[in-house]
Amino acid sequence: MISIAIDGPSGAGKSTVAKALAKKLGYIYVDTGALYRTIALFAIRKGAEPTNEEQICALLPQIKLDVKYVDGTQRVFLCGEDVSDKIRTNEISMCASKVSAIPAVRAFLLDLQRDMAKNNNVIMDGRDIGTVILPDATVKFFMNASEDAKARRRHKELLAKGEKISLEEVKKTMAERDKNDSARKIAPAVPAADAIHLDNSESLEKTIETAINIIMEKII
Ligand code: DC
Repeated sequence: MISIAIDGPSGAGKSTVAKALAKKLGYIYVDTGALYRTIALFAIRKGAEPTNEEQICALLPQIKLDVKYVDGTQRVFLCGEDVSDKIRTNEISMCASKVSAIPAVRAFLLDLQRDMAKNNNVIMDGRDIGTVILPDATVKFFMNASEDAKARRRHKELLAKGEKISLEEVKKTMAERDKNDSARKIAPAVPAADAIHLDNSESLEKTIETAINIIMEKII
C-alpha cells in the first residue's frame, strides 16, 4: 500500500492539498484531526476538563469511533452519530489540541489510523503521521505557511461555517494551539527527519503540483 503523510500546523492548507492529491491519485484522504476533535466533542458533552488526564481516560472506554467514506468523503461517527460537521468549531479545535496531548488518547487512536493505511492507499494528514503513525510512509511532507496566510485561511473557513469570530481571535487561538501541538511531550508536531518541506503561503495550485511531482517520482 502507498501512504502519503502530510503534517504541519493548523491552517497550513494540509486538508485542501490532501483532498486534491487524493482525488488525483484515487487514494483515500484520512483527516486524523477529526478523530481528536471527536474525542474533544465527547469530553465537552460529558462536562470533562480537556486537560484532566484522569477524567479523559475514564471517558475513552465509552467512545465508539468509526470512520466511513460517503461519496469519497470521510465521515466520523461517535457511538453511531455522524459528528463530522459538529466538530468544526473553534471551541472544538482548542479542546482537541488539549486532549491530543494526553498519551492515552493518542494510544486509543493509533491502531485505527494504522489500519486505514494498511488496507488502503492513503493521503493522511495530521501532526505526527510521518513521525509516529506511519514512520515508513512512502512520501512525507511537512507543510507550513506564513502566520498571516494560515490565520486568513482558517478565518474564512470558520466564517463560511457560520461562526462569528474575528481574524484577531483566530490568530490568537491558532498561535496557542500550534504552540501546544509542537511543544507537547508526546508526538509533537515536528517534521520527520526525512520529511519534504512544502511552503503553502502563496499558490495552492503550485503546492499541489510540486507535491504531485514528488509523489510521482517516488511511486512510478
Ligand atoms: O488538524 P486539526 O486542526 O483538525 O487538528 C485538531 C487538533 O488535533 C490539533 O490541534 C492537534 C490534534 N492532532 C494531533 O495531535 N495529531 C494529529 N495527527 C492530528 C491532530
